[in-house]
This record gives sequence, C-alpha cells and structure tokens, in this order.
Amino acid sequence: MDIIRRARLKEMDRTALEFMQSIEADRWIFKADLAVDRAHTRMLLENGIISEKDASLILEGLDQIEEAGIDALNLEEYEDIHACVESRLIELIGEDAGGRMHTARSRNDEVATCIRIALREELEKLIDKLNDLRRTILLRAEEHLETIMPGFTHLQFAQPTTLAHHLLAHFDALSRDLERLGGVYSRTNRSPLGAAAFASTSFPIDRRRTMELLGFEGLVENSMDAVSARDFLIEAISVSAIIMMHLSRLSEELILWSSQGFDMIELDDTVTSTSSIMPQKKNPDLAELIRAKTGTVNGALTAALTIMKAMPMSYNRDLQELTPHLIKAVTITAASVSGMERMIRSMKVKRDSMRSKLELGDLMATDLADALVREKGLPFRTAHKIVGKAVSEGYAIEELDEATLRDVLDPMLSVNKRKVTGGPAPEEVKRMIEQRKRELSLI
Ligand code: ARG
Repeated sequence: MDIIRRARLKEMDRTALEFMQSIEADRWIFKADLAVDRAHTRMLLENGIISEKDASLILEGLDQIEEAGIDALNLEEYEDIHACVESRLIELIGEDAGGRMHTARSRNDEVATCIRIALREELEKLIDKLNDLRRTILLRAEEHLETIMPGFTHLQFAQPTTLAHHLLAHFDALSRDLERLGGVYSRTNRSPLGAAAFASTSFPIDRRRTMELLGFEGLVENSMDAVSARDFLIEAISVSAIIMMHLSRLSEELILWSSQGFDMIELDDTVTSTSSIMPQKKNPDLAELIRAKTGTVNGALTAALTIMKAMPMSYNRDLQELTPHLIKAVTITAASVSGMERMIRSMKVKRDSMRSKLELGDLMATDLADALVREKGLPFRTAHKIVGKAVSEGYAIEELDEATLRDVLDPMLSVNKRKVTGGPAPEEVKRMIEQRKRELSLI
C-alpha cells in the first residue's frame, strides 16, 4: 500500500491513478529527485533533525536506488516518482530510518526543486548547441564577405547585399536569444526547497544549506511563491518559442533558396530526403520539420500559459500538467538548433547563380537614384520619381546609364559604398565578424 495514502484513503482506482500519473516528467526528474533527497538528508543531519545513523542508512539506500536505475522501480504503481522513491527507500532500509527522510518537506517544494535542477541542465545543453550554431554561422559568413546576392524586402529583389551580411543578421538574432537564455537560467537557478507544502516548517532547517548543496545561486524566498511559481518554466518555453521562430525564418530561407526558382544554395545530401516516386528530388525535409515544430513549441507555450492562468495560490495539481510541455519545448528546440547547425555547416553556396540574380529585378534602382542626387544635385524624392517612372515604363536600369553613372551599376561597388555601421560593405561586415569572433573566443 502506498505510504502516503495508507493513513486515510483506500487504494486508488486504477483508471484514476493512470490519469494522475506523471511518468514522463518523473523520468526526466529522477536524478534530480535523488539529488534533492540527498541534500535534504544531509541538511537534516547537520541541523540535528535526524541522527547520523539514520542519515547514513538513507544515503546508502538512495545510492542503491540510483544504481539499480529508474527501470528497477515500479513507477506505474505510484502517483509519482517522489512517492515511489520514498516507498522503495522504506522497503530497503525500514521505516524507522527511511520514514524520516520526508521530515520538514513536501512533494510540493520537492517537485519544484527537481524541475529547476532538470531544467538547468537542459538550458546548459541548449546554450552549448546555440553557441555551436552561432560559431558555424560566423565561420560561414566569413567565407562570403564578397559573395554578392540580392537582398529582399517583401520577398522581392530589393538591393544587392552579401551573404555574409545576411548570415550575420541571423547570428545577431540568435545572440539575443542567448542573452534571453541567460536571464531564464538565472531565474531558474534558485532554490524553492524548504518551503514544504507552502507554509514552510517548524523544524529548524537551513534553506541556504540545501541551496548550496544543490548548486543554486539563490532562494525563491517566500515559501508560498516557492511552491507555486512556474514563471521560470513558462519563460523557458517562451524563449524556446522565440528561438524556434528564428530557426523557422532561417529554415524558410533555406527551403526557398534551395528550390529551383531561387537556385542560390544546395543543401547537403546528409540532411535532405528524396522522393519515393520522383527520383530527381532532393527535399529540404529537415528545414521543413524545424518550421513545423515551431508550431508545436508555440502550442506548448499556449498550453502552459493557459494552464497557469487563474491558478489560485499555492500548489495545485494542475502544475503537474505543465512539465511535459516544458520538456517538449526545450528538447525540440535543442534538436532543432543542432539540425540547423548541420544544414548551415554543410550547405553549398552557388555563388555564380546568386550573383546572376542581380541581373533581374532592377536591384540597382536605389543606387541610380542616389547617384542622381550626388552627381546631378537633385532632391532624392525627384530622383526616386525619375527612376521609378523609367522602371515602370519598362526601361531596364542599364538603358538610363550615362558615362558618369556607369560605376553606379556595379553591384559590388554599390555594396562597398554602404559601409556605415552595420552595413553590408565587406570591410564593415569583416569588422562585425571579428568583434563577434572575439566574443565567442574564436580569436
Ligand atoms: N507529480 C507532482 C507534480 O508534478 C508532484 C507533487 C505532488 N504534490 C501533491 N501535493 N500531490 O506536481
């Protein structure tokens, strides 16, 4: 019989039990749960709340449980991992010692602590992967300082730029995501342990000690806030959703650029699929799935915000329903970041084809209008009208060319001129890359 229920309840109905279980999330926090049990036990001992003998029996029992692994536990028989581990401990070392581990604690502060520990690890992995992707983007950008391509607005050819400048735009967006992850990490890395059910405890526990033992940087101080706050978790899903949105935008470009209509890159065989019927096909399925999984992560964010809204203080079992959304969001995001890194690292850039696009679509119109301002002293609005009218009447920009304006139509010269801070001129992009390489300790 379940050690928690036995005091006042009959055995739980099987269907009800299955509905209430949190097995997936419990697997995710198994190691964290044992770490929390150990830290709590040591703290109880240090503060004279349990004896040396009981503490060492508990710690040995926990070691045995860890060695045997989660599959040795019959998790299906319990409401959650906390009840399961405690029951197993009591089976192993008896209730006289094992029954003391849960002194001055509740599953409410226990689970909140476990989620924060497990999430901390996921965030560390995500940060590492994001840095790998940033590094790869930067190195690819460096190869293409002078690779001329059409820049787009409204997905229409707009003005010439370079691939390096374009890639660096994605790099900078991902750098902000990294900053955001740093913020989430610091708010996750605080200990709720010792809050007990919500009202703390009358035992003389030391919350700062368990905080230290578990490597937290601070406390979630108010004991009611400690058990019921999940904004750290929602923030993690939210940053995951923002990262996915960025990856999805990049995926969309890879899909477009590798299609015959654009023909600007080729994705490597190792990250593409083919068709079961059309033997010529090379399909960007990985990019498409990143784009699709962005929807799944957005769904997780919506679910989490909706579960959390209108939840009265303090612990409610609803909170359990959040954890699977968190796990899904962070694991999908980490896998997507890795997938994107592989695509960017291995993609082939079709420089000539990219450059040939500049012959289409009057990309030099802005340069021509600028030149009329510079050379002929016209107001910009007048020059804009002249060039716009010529283009709409079907003149190719080249036909308007005069000897004095000839240089204006060279796309590389056009890019070279745009060397203001943040512009696409190779010397400016080189400066930006070098600064970013220093930040990533690549120089
Ligand atoms: N599985 C539960 C959760 O994730 C653990 C805490 C249970 N607490 C309780 N009072 N029933 O929230």
